[in-house]
Amino acid sequence: MKTLIDKLHHEHRLTPEEYRLLLLDENVDNLSYLHQRAREVACERFGNRIFIRGLIEITNCCRNNCYYCGIRHDNRNVQRYMLSPDDILNCCREGYRLGFRTFVMQGGELPTAYDDRMTEVIRSIRSEFPDCAITLSLGERTREVYEQFYRAGANRYLLRHETHNADHYRQLHPAVMSSEHRLQCLAWLKEIGFQTGTGIMVGSPGQTVDYLLEDILFIEQLHPEMIGIGPFIPHRDTPFGEYPSGSITLTLKLLSIFRLMNPNVLLPSTTALATLAADGREQGILAGANVVMPNLSPGDCRANYSLYDGKATLGAEAAEGLLLLENKLAAIGYRLSKDKGDYVQR
Ligand code: 5AD
Repeated sequence: MKTLIDKLHHEHRLTPEEYRLLLLDENVDNLSYLHQRAREVACERFGNRIFIRGLIEITNCCRNNCYYCGIRHDNRNVQRYMLSPDDILNCCREGYRLGFRTFVMQGGELPTAYDDRMTEVIRSIRSEFPDCAITLSLGERTREVYEQFYRAGANRYLLRHETHNADHYRQLHPAVMSSEHRLQCLAWLKEIGFQTGTGIMVGSPGQTVDYLLEDILFIEQLHPEMIGIGPFIPHRDTPFGEYPSGSITLTLKLLSIFRLMNPNVLLPSTTALATLAADGREQGILAGANVVMPNLSPGDCRANYSLYDGKATLGAEAAEGLLLLENKLAAIGYRLSKDKGDYVQR
């Protein structure tokens, strides 16, 4: 197995059968060898620096009904909110003051009537913060709207594919959504010139080793600049409320695999990981992650942006908790980087 890990380290890819062996292997020595290699690769590329991104959850309104997500349209127990353009700009100002140079605007999928308003918000942020990166995570739009966002000054777009397999996609989403359209959106984003992120939830209901293998091969071929990987966590008000959470161990293994596949990739240690384990964020970094995304949303919204139960929003997950985050990183030998941290192919 260590030979396979060395191969992945040096050649950045394995055969499907080799990936499968690696996914199935449960030997703890091998796993720690994998994490160590991934960590070394991240350190060679980025030093002991971890990029920070300020996450602004601009709305929890959503037209979709994904079976796993707490802010799905049909959940009547959520108090819905939408930040005004001024609210969003104020979040950016506060973030800038704290040292953030990337703003990630994430939200549920709004009706298309809001696209022009969003474009204006992007334009305002771009003119007030010319030295910052603007990342969007606003779901599926038309190619024209993505182009409009890009021209207004957005640089990066996160759109997890959730699962590459069409049957599995149908197990996670209502029939009006399709993996085909999701993949089409990702292709458009890349073509337009966005630094593009995709990813999956680890342990989503119905996920198999074969499906994970498909995800790995898809990511290898898409070659995204960013990869978001976190464990599935149930939300009580969703059809998947009774399913178990995804495995932390498997999440960490995938983080390391993706780091070895692409040494340059921007790989966050996600809030979902920090939610499942007190030291989840640190474990993610020690497995090769190099990005954290503290929450810059106004305090009174955070509880309502409830994608899953128990979502961590306090302490080191909050932008105001930057000092705490710095201390936690220092304890494992890392420091925050306040660089914009664009993707660089080397
Ligand atoms: N558990 C973990 N992650 C979730 N997401 C949505 N719902 C959950 C959940 N229950 C993730 C999805 C989405 C991202 C914004 O949040 O992968 O793409």
